[in-house]
Amino acid sequence: MVKKIGIIGLGTVGQATLKTLAKYRRLIERRTSLDIRVQKVCDIKQEKKKVVARTSIPFTTDPYEVINDPNIDIIVELIGGIHPAYQYVTSSLKKGKDVVTANKALLAQEGKAIFKLAHKLKCNVGVEASVCGAMPLIKSISEGLVSCEVKRLYGILNGTTNHILYQMYKEKIDFQDALKQAQERGIAETSPQLDIQGTDALHKLCILSYLCFGVWPKIKDVYVEGITRINPLDIQYAEELSYRIKLLAIAKKEKYHLSLRVHPTLIREEHPLAEVVSAFNGVWLDTYPAGRFLMYGEGAGGIPTSSSIISDIVNVSLRKNSFKIKEEKKTRLESINRLKTRYYIRFMALDKPGVLARVSKILASLNISIASVTQKERSKGNIVPIVMLTHDAIELNLRKALSRIDRLDLIKPPSQLIRIEDM
Ligand code: HSE
Repeated sequence: MVKKIGIIGLGTVGQATLKTLAKYRRLIERRTSLDIRVQKVCDIKQEKKKVVARTSIPFTTDPYEVINDPNIDIIVELIGGIHPAYQYVTSSLKKGKDVVTANKALLAQEGKAIFKLAHKLKCNVGVEASVCGAMPLIKSISEGLVSCEVKRLYGILNGTTNHILYQMYKEKIDFQDALKQAQERGIAETSPQLDIQGTDALHKLCILSYLCFGVWPKIKDVYVEGITRINPLDIQYAEELSYRIKLLAIAKKEKYHLSLRVHPTLIREEHPLAEVVSAFNGVWLDTYPAGRFLMYGEGAGGIPTSSSIISDIVNVSLRKNSFKIKEEKKTRLESINRLKTRYYIRFMALDKPGVLARVSKILASLNISIASVTQKERSKGNIVPIVMLTHDAIELNLRKALSRIDRLDLIKPPSQLIRIEDM
């Protein structure tokens, strides 16, 4: 069966998809009986015409020449961003075409509307490449784990921040130096905010929330904290305590309570996610009845991600990938203030008698129980780091405690707070 596709956006992933299709068209046909042909490509930049210069594939700078082409069955949207991608995707669906997209920002914000429209028009939307690049995570959850309840999900969903944290750990450098090095190596973008503030991981978590729990959260309701406040001291002290610091996207569901959050997290060094280093992604799921499940792989890069785009082209062609997941209306998002977990806290304190007593008094008054305390060696200026691990405590109490502690004249603010997950 011949399937004709149109590609909008010839950036890294668009170009790689063309390359992979050219290389493996026959292999895909042998495996699926689908002959995937690129009917037309589009990029708003005229100079991108050179990408298809040695082929017979027509090029246009007008996306609607692709969307309105009656010979095209599937539109592959690879421009990123919300507008005009939303208009292109919805116009394509209204033309009766299936859509494949890697656009996590678009799906996180407009996924609910896009899937609703697709269902109404009996079209398919493939989104495998939007989360964890090349890893077939979405298919694993929506097909392989279809009979499973997901109880907990922990994901390293952003390769850039994972690489930066790993370099800070390995090279003992600070955040700014690690970011600069990552930018020089093309691992971080020149405008890295989406990655380092945790927004990219947040977008991916929103998509996973729909797949795993049938809940499209409002982006603004999900707690997010990036990695910019992580200090090499914290990485070193975490290591001394047998922990690693990872930017985790976390989802936990109990009855009708769903906790979704993205933040730096201390995880035990022996947990498999601690071994997900450099720019790799990793997702660990706790499910029933399948049990625990770990996926590890390439989360970005044009060539690896083209594998997910093409698998979606095949899936939408075979009408497999329509995600008719019913929304779960009773489930409520838990506020971060109600979170109950263990915490790592670091204070910078004057090395004088009575500091620990005053800090402990504040913690005790808010029902925060200390599991361990380490005072680091004396340093210049008589300011010493004090590291505490708490037992389970309530987030709101922790925040109140920190704000009171930071007002003590013996403390040099801001104090550090990192959540611990004992998985
Ligand atoms: N900026 C993303 C990352 C790329 O670093 O993982 C793919 O979503």
